[in-house]
Amino acid sequence: MDAIIYTSAGGHTRNYAHMISLASGLPVYSLGDSEAPEGGDILFLGWIFAGGVKGYKKASKKFRVRGLCGVGMSPPGEKVMEDIRKKDRPPADLPLFYLWGGFELDKLKGINRLIMFLKAKQIAAAMKKIEQPTQEQRQLLIMATTGASQVKKESITPILKWLEQQGVATLGKERHV
Ligand SMILES: Cc1cc2nc3c(=O)[nH]c(=O)nc-3n(C[C@H](O)[C@H](O)[C@H](O)COP(=O)(O)O)c2cc1C
Repeated sequence: MDAIIYTSAGGHTRNYAHMISLASGLPVYSLGDSEAPEGGDILFLGWIFAGGVKGYKKASKKFRVRGLCGVGMSPPGEKVMEDIRKKDRPPADLPLFYLWGGFELDKLKGINRLIMFLKAKQIAAAMKKIEQPTQEQRQLLIMATTGASQVKKESITPILKWLEQQGVATLGKERHV
């Protein structure tokens, strides 16, 4: 593995990419960075835009994507994984991960901010209608109403384990601070 490449509109995916870089020693670049090792083996992280991983198509032309990770505001689960598979059609054997990101309107700009200004109200209204919301649905309501981050260090553990299987030495969960 040569590097971690990411896209990020509001900073949450960037945070995860940097956490994984710190734990693994792999260099980290944003997708547009001219210093990124073109043609190299990469773990790609992208924020979720309308169900798909932003930048995946572009990244797969420029690099050899060895692992793909979406970061969205939806709680983790099979639904988000299915949406990514449907929208991006990654190879069936490509390791696919999902990390719960965050939504903070003031971190967004331009069209993304405008879309989410409207969309967050819809999400909040839908969550309020649920009679017995799960803990995750409650969190999503808070995220859509006031903005919140679910970025947590422990969430990257499965990715660190996978990197270890690829021969990348990582700091591991217990020493990872
Ligand atoms: C225009 C737009 C569309 C989005 N669509 C989705 C979506 O379909 N599913 C989802 O879970 N999150 C969606 N999100 C939320 C982001 O994926 C989520 O806030 C993510 O953590 C952003 O990562 P970032 O801070 O690195 O940009 C959308 C956000 C924006 C701005």
